[in-house]
Amino acid sequence: MTTMESLIGLVNRIQRACTVLGDFGGADGGPTLPTLWEELPSVAVVGGQSSGKSSVLESIVGRDFLPRGSGIVTRRPLVLQLHKTEEGRQEYAEFLHLPRRRFTDFALVRKEIQDETDRMTGKTKQISPVPIHLSIYSPNVVNLTLIDLPGLTKVAVEGQPDTIVEDIDNMVRSYVEKPNCIILAISPANQDIATSDAMKLAREVDPTGERTFGVLTKLDLMDQGTNALDVLEGRSFRLQQPWVGIVNRSQADINRNVDMIAARRKEREYFATSPDYAHLADKMGSEYLAKLLSRHLESVIRARIPGITSLINKTIDELESEMEHLGRPVAVDSGAQLYTILELCRAFDRIFKEHLDGGRPGGDR
Ligand code: GDP
Ligand code: NA
Ligand code: MG
Repeated sequence: MTTMESLIGLVNRIQRACTVLGDFGGADGGPTLPTLWEELPSVAVVGGQSSGKSSVLESIVGRDFLPRGSGIVTRRPLVLQLHKTEEGRQEYAEFLHLPRRRFTDFALVRKEIQDETDRMTGKTKQISPVPIHLSIYSPNVVNLTLIDLPGLTKVAVEGQPDTIVEDIDNMVRSYVEKPNCIILAISPANQDIATSDAMKLAREVDPTGERTFGVLTKLDLMDQGTNALDVLEGRSFRLQQPWVGIVNRSQADINRNVDMIAARRKEREYFATSPDYAHLADKMGSEYLAKLLSRHLESVIRARIPGITSLINKTIDELESEMEHLGRPVAVDSGAQLYTILELCRAFDRIFKEHLDGGRPGGDR
């Protein structure tokens, strides 16, 4: 593992610990942990309904585990933390709300997401802003925190309150307006990019385009004789990050149980053999997108090291006085959790110091 990879892993673990501790406010009642969480970068996936958000997330993870399909499928935010483990280790998933259960069957992960969504919203088309937290441990992922969000929509359908359009907009906005949020803006290639909900929102909250990654899905569904080069080469929408084109599985592929490995192979072949996109082939596709995001996350963390370090130190101070207050040894869960996060913060601080002391960050990439 390179130092930077372990650094992102550590950020992941601190975010998770902050989540477990919920709204713990620090010794003076200040919102230390939520502030710390917000200081740490994450990636939110935004776009119109059925633009392919959940499919893109699955491709990045390399696993089938999300509910997908037409209509409003994603009805609660899903905070997905990917933790890279050592080669040869078994992949598993864990929900925050089911801490002692390891899922190795990803079909059951999908079912649990559906069930947990229904538990909060009923079997309706309603949405809830309360996130589901899921961690995936695998040798085949890059360290990333990704957030899947309900799709932006223009009209309420039967069974939904009239406010739903605005409710979804507000929910998505609450994530992407944070300056530390990296926006994965998903637009389908078979619709006019000028009407893209994702780009409209991204433009509003990130006018300079510095934290927006434009992702164009459904390239395979474009009309014959047309192509998306104006978008992919940055002429339609100028962003500071490169656009990435994606070919996810179609609904027919999903119905035929085309697996992820086959889907990735098909995607690679699509770009390699396309007369329009072959010259861009090594900068297209979901595997490339995952690497690009991980690399970007590293550089964001590196740039924020001083700010995060001081916040970490403040957190350590407050946690220490909280521990003092509780007295040691502490038997109750919250004491143990405080201790865990304190240890994480110290490790974080140590690694940051190594970086600042001239250790060359990054690795052999
Ligand atoms: P979401 O609502 O934005 O999360 O979209 P989903 O990932 O659930 O995808 C909606 C539908 O579009 C599903 O039936 C997918 O199979 C299909 N889909 C998504 N991306 C692509 C793509 O790149 N090509 C094709 N042909 N279908 C896609
Ligand atoms: Na959908
Ligand atoms: Mg979805």
